[in-house]
Amino acid sequence: MIAAIVAAAGSGERFGAPIPKALIQLGDRTLLEHAVSSLSAVVDQIVVTAPAGFEDQIRALVGNAVTVVTGGATRSDSVRVGLAAIDNAEFVLVHDAARALATRELAASVVAALKAGDVAVVPALPVVDTLQNVGADGYVVNAVDRSSLRRIQTPQGFSFSVLNAIHQGAQDATDDSTLALNAGHKVRVIAGEERALKITTPSDLATALTFLGDATTFSTGVGVDAHAFGQGRELWLAGLHWPDEVGVDGHSDGDVASHAICDALFAATGLGDLGSNFGTSRPEYAGASGVTLLKETLAIITKGGYSISHVSVQIIGNRPRIGARRAEAIATLSQALGGAEVAILATTTDGMGLTGEGKGIAAIASALVIKNA
Ligand code: CTP
Ligand code: MG
Repeated sequence: MIAAIVAAAGSGERFGAPIPKALIQLGDRTLLEHAVSSLSAVVDQIVVTAPAGFEDQIRALVGNAVTVVTGGATRSDSVRVGLAAIDNAEFVLVHDAARALATRELAASVVAALKAGDVAVVPALPVVDTLQNVGADGYVVNAVDRSSLRRIQTPQGFSFSVLNAIHQGAQDATDDSTLALNAGHKVRVIAGEERALKITTPSDLATALTFLGDATTFSTGVGVDAHAFGQGRELWLAGLHWPDEVGVDGHSDGDVASHAICDALFAATGLGDLGSNFGTSRPEYAGASGVTLLKETLAIITKGGYSISHVSVQIIGNRPRIGARRAEAIATLSQALGGAEVAILATTTDGMGLTGEGKGIAAIASALVIKNA
């Protein structure tokens, strides 16, 4: 009997999406479903550790044959909770949902090494970059010989008794092989897979998509917004407060750059527009900030199976001058969009039109999105 624990209880902080990382869509299914499906061909029992509050949603995704438990505060804690749900087994694989594209062949190779007598088995890849230790002063201390260094992946395999033994206490490490090593067990290394990369950031997701081999479908959208200046209003633009500027009228904070980006994303994904998603029928969004609307838009399009490749916005008006705060604005908008690439441009219109006459500010945005299916 072979069991597997899928660690999926992380929040995916570095990914920056409004949903747990394991529930992000990659191709036709979530990262978690990919991980479960390659293990299910190789093991008899699967335990998934879910983020608190997402247990039912995950049960519905993985089906009744899979046991779902609530994960812990750290990855090691989650593995311990998963291990407690396994009554008996000869071998246990421990896998990260974040390594969604590890193949069933890799899991089978790990099992084969266990059957051949190893008690702890890890897949690993060589390091290609030059490695150096860098001091706190920002200078290199020394170079490191990389020839014997490896990048350790999952699924990792253990005899049930070894995995139980190394998780007796409350030890913490970023993987289980480190705990096995610290406890004095021999850890066998087998060949890993590039496609078993750990999906940590949105750009890793884009890399993972290339491994799926499906024709990736891109789509684009354009969004426009404009607001008239209003006395006594604060100016919010591109996610930033502009203290010495005149603000614009409107029910929201009037951030035309954020609003134009939201509409460009809705246009690219065909998921409605600002009005239909956050309009008068959704009073909870009255007065919402541009950043809040961007985050909500990201949540809607993520749920719809899209990732953002790139967003650009051009602000049209005589003031404020964007240049000095461009980097700050890009960082703010990018963070609201889960780390997406953002470009911000600005222009005046030679004194012509509403914005040229100094009556208000407008913005026009474009978005390039990837359909994850
Ligand atoms: N994990 C877990 N329980 C935790 C933390 C992480 O089960 N308390 C899981 C994650 O869901 C992930 C795997 O361990 O599949 C590897 O962790 P990592 O890639 O770091 O994911 P997150 O912790 O979610 O991401 P981040 O560190 O960016 O927040
Ligand atoms: Mg983590």
